[in-house]
Amino acid sequence: MQASEITWLGLIVDDYLVTDEIGRGGMSRIYRASHVHSGAEAVIKVVTTKDSADAELGRNQTCANQLFSGGFGPVHPSPLQLLSMEWKRGMQSGAALCCVGQPAELADGAYGIRPFLKGRTLRKEMSTGITEKLKLLADVALVMSLVEKSAAAYHGDLKPDNVIVQESGIKLIDPGYFGSLHCTEGDIENCVVTTPAYYPLLENDDLFAFGAMSWEVLLSRHPLTDLGAPRQDVGESLRQWVRDYQILGRHSVNSFLSLVLPSEVRADFAGSAETFLLKLLRLRRDLESNKLEYDPGFASFGELLDHLHRAKLT
Ligand SMILES: Nc1ncnc2c1ncn2[C@@H]1O[C@H](COP(=O)(O)OP(=O)(O)O)[C@@H](O)[C@H]1O
Ligand SMILES: [Mg+2]
Repeated sequence: MQASEITWLGLIVDDYLVTDEIGRGGMSRIYRASHVHSGAEAVIKVVTTKDSADAELGRNQTCANQLFSGGFGPVHPSPLQLLSMEWKRGMQSGAALCCVGQPAELADGAYGIRPFLKGRTLRKEMSTGITEKLKLLADVALVMSLVEKSAAAYHGDLKPDNVIVQESGIKLIDPGYFGSLHCTEGDIENCVVTTPAYYPLLENDDLFAFGAMSWEVLLSRHPLTDLGAPRQDVGESLRQWVRDYQILGRHSVNSFLSLVLPSEVRADFAGSAETFLLKLLRLRRDLESNKLEYDPGFASFGELLDHLHRAKLT
């Protein structure tokens, strides 16, 4: 079957009747389906080579890039490989990441079936109150502390669209990938399948992605894309850090020179709340010079959670 040329609506796939299209990402289409005998609800994720080649990428969309010295550029990994990665990494995570079924190949792509998760993405929950949002972020940090201790080791594509908020708690879906891939362009060693707005260094840094997501969820603006004027209070260690990544071609680090700080958006985010949010983005304000400097940030989600509990922020 040519997955890219047909609509899946009304088809029966492995005993599941496809009833709705519920999403379309940079590399995939997501359909809702129900089992023809048991009525069990499922989601079918279809990845095609055509969709990934045609995708016009929004800032929240996952894309695949190869890294080379001084830059990066798009690549087209095999769809079956992408879905197989998701399947294997789900199993390695010991159920911390949503478990998905083994994928099957199509003429121009692949598909995988997984349980339907009742709930809404964290992006859709952004209009709830601050206390609820802090609690949800703490839940994400808790699940991530399990992921980092599991064989899966990282999520790799943490963002509000990949967090499903359910009545029973949160579920993380759709992990990214950092490593070697078979691509249309050949076998490539240094690849990243992730969302650059949350992983601007194109490094496997879930803690940074969690920081960007926390700013976005709490302040309703993305720290690296909703910018202000160039800041006058950037210290030397932050300038040097930006220069180090510019040399590697990661030009989105320039955004750090025009950040809008939490207290500049919401007066109630001054003081310790701002210090905490700055540390999540690997920043601190120097007490003597009052300049924004680079900070190593938290070393693990475990350490971040300890801090949250001690500060009684949740
Ligand atoms: N198992 C699921 N249950 C319910 N909704 C889902 C499920 N999987 C995905 N979705 C919805 O579809 C969207 C895209 O799915 P995702 O697996 O993240 O694909 P993509 O690779 O396109 O980002 C999610 O943000 C979510 O809204
Ligand atoms: Mg996703």
